[in-house]
Amino acid sequence: SIVRPAPGDLDGLDVVVTAGGTREPIDPVRFIGNRSSGRQGIAVAVAAAARGARVRLIAAHVEQALLAEAEQHPAIAVARAGTAAELQDATQQAASDADVVVMAAAVADYRVADVAEGKLTKESSDGTLTLQLVENPDIVAGLAARRRPGQTIVGFAAETAQGEELRARGRRKLARKGVDLLAVNEVGWERGFETPDNSVLFVTATSGDAPEVVSGDKRQVADALWDAVLALR
Ligand code: CTP
Ligand code: CA
Repeated sequence: SIVRPAPGDLDGLDVVVTAGGTREPIDPVRFIGNRSSGRQGIAVAVAAAARGARVRLIAAHVEQALLAEAEQHPAIAVARAGTAAELQDATQQAASDADVVVMAAAVADYRVADVAEGKLTKESSDGTLTLQLVENPDIVAGLAARRRPGQTIVGFAAETAQGEELRARGRRKLARKGVDLLAVNEVGWERGFETPDNSVLFVTATSGDAPEVVSGDKRQVADALWDAVLALR
């Protein structure tokens, strides 16, 4: 029942999309990462470009083949960011003159408090290792708090919940972050990551108990996301 919108309905729009998972270093050879492939975020970037937007894609760690596809598009400029701190710098800078920012990146919630100068070794280990982690700043909440008039801020949320609990968490997270639209994704050990298909709720300030549900491949979800953004603007 989804009618693919005409190319050109995002003409003249300046958008920033983040994608992929950040990696937080432990020592020169190790990191804390997550399972994000960047597939959904890259699909959001490619869909926007296909519909006429100018896109800046800020890619954390993503599947290289997916990124190569985006890089071929003349309307997409790609920048890289490794850690949450790097992603924050790049996103804040790009957001200053963007009409829409979509935070599809899986940002590490914590970073290692003291990154080791040299490789950690087991030489003087007692059989355990304790890493102290500190919370990273909430990038999208910061963008939403400082958004310009007319700027639309979109977040993603991966949740291991279902049904009413999933919707309630989505509403709380939308309010906590202050974003205009939250795309809520049900994930599990076997669902949501490294897969082409996706099922997403679009939570907004007015969606109440019945947020729009979109299922399909990540490109279909991406196009539905841009429809939802246009409906808000
Ligand atoms: N996000 C962000 N900065 C962070 C963490 C998350 O900008 N430090 C963004 C993500 O890119 C996403 C949205 O916030 O668009 C929701 O991410 P999520 O991990 O679901 O939210 P958290 O606030 O980290 O909540 P949770 O404790 O459920 O992980
Ligand atoms: Ca998180």
